[in-house]
Amino acid sequence: MQVYLDNSATTRPHKEVIDAMIGCYETHYGNASSLHRMGIQAEKMIKDARNSVGQSLNVSDSEIIFTSGGTESNNTAIFGAAEALKRTGNRIITSAIEHPAVLNVCKSLEQNGMDVKYLNVNDKGLIQLDALEEYFNEKTILISVMHVNNELGTIQPIEEIAKYKKSCSKFYFHVDAVQSYGKMKISPKTIGIDLLSVSGHKLHGPKGIGALFIDKSIHIPPLLYGGLQEYGIRSGTENVPGIIGLGQAAAMAYNNLETDINNIKHVRSYLIQGIKEEIKDIRINSYEDDRCIPHILNISFMGIRGEVLLHMLEQAEIYVSTGSACSSKKKGLSHVLKAAGLSNSEIEGAVRFSFSKYNSIEEMDYVLDHLKKGINSIRKIMRK
Ligand SMILES: Cc1ncc(COP(=O)(O)O)c(C=O)c1O
Repeated sequence: MQVYLDNSATTRPHKEVIDAMIGCYETHYGNASSLHRMGIQAEKMIKDARNSVGQSLNVSDSEIIFTSGGTESNNTAIFGAAEALKRTGNRIITSAIEHPAVLNVCKSLEQNGMDVKYLNVNDKGLIQLDALEEYFNEKTILISVMHVNNELGTIQPIEEIAKYKKSCSKFYFHVDAVQSYGKMKISPKTIGIDLLSVSGHKLHGPKGIGALFIDKSIHIPPLLYGGLQEYGIRSGTENVPGIIGLGQAAAMAYNNLETDINNIKHVRSYLIQGIKEEIKDIRINSYEDDRCIPHILNISFMGIRGEVLLHMLEQAEIYVSTGSACSSKKKGLSHVLKAAGLSNSEIEGAVRFSFSKYNSIEEMDYVLDHLKKGINSIRKIMRK
């Protein structure tokens, strides 16, 4: 049995997504800028996909820009906001647990004179808003906060943060929704979000495609200059197969959202219960209730190195992660778990299980069996 539990790193593309993309590669391969029928066909396919993504977020199609993924969406939003509002001020507020695609952009802006403040989190990775009052001033031009943390699954208080817009509308509010899009209903306009990043490969769509919602009331300059595709915000010949794949994945995610969520919740609870009953010396790092997205579960197995367990599980074709896939190949402890105040041994023993609609209870029984055996044998070796 193969059990894929690394869905926060990336997901298995839906068959319908692959079929739509193959059709695009084999038959509808025109360039959307071409004037002939094949170009018009490609343009129409992009229009439909834009509509699918726009509808899923309850926004106008013209407020959706296709990009190469979450990283590019975050870069476009943050560099763009900083450039657009540089005459208004230089204060940016973000959190200590953002993805590197936000943190490293902020670091680069800091080197160029921006004054960045980082909000702290509690022991479950929930952003604490008490410091926001202190950090927020008339020079604030951007608040950028993730919707769901990719390592712990914690859902962040973005509605609370958006309230600041009511008292001061000079700043832009950007949300990295890469880990929540397709998994939760998100309505950026109702909340008061100006910029929102999504990525195709996290919701059973293709890699190398993403989107950025830009509210029509704001303006940001492009990151890439060229042939003025995507309303001039993202030049470059459109990745039509990727765009079609994202459109298809978005429609599928939101058509069956409630059923999928209930199934994933059931699978996650079953695994938590089993681990609690069968394995000693653990620390559940994620919230177990609705403050955490049901797709993510982060647990520390004490006295064990997460990486050793990962490779042991891999032998049984069970795939998990030790932290975020974007940083797990780098040395050093997870900045997210550090910010949550975990000890070094808790961080070293941390494993992230991340679920999708394709996981089942039968798979969890298999995982529990191998998890128990693996942990027992590692702990036995460690005691010698
Ligand atoms: C929260 C978050 N933001 C951004 C990204 C980057 O997205 P992409 O892989 O599409 O560049 C990731 C990917 O893991 C993520 O989890």
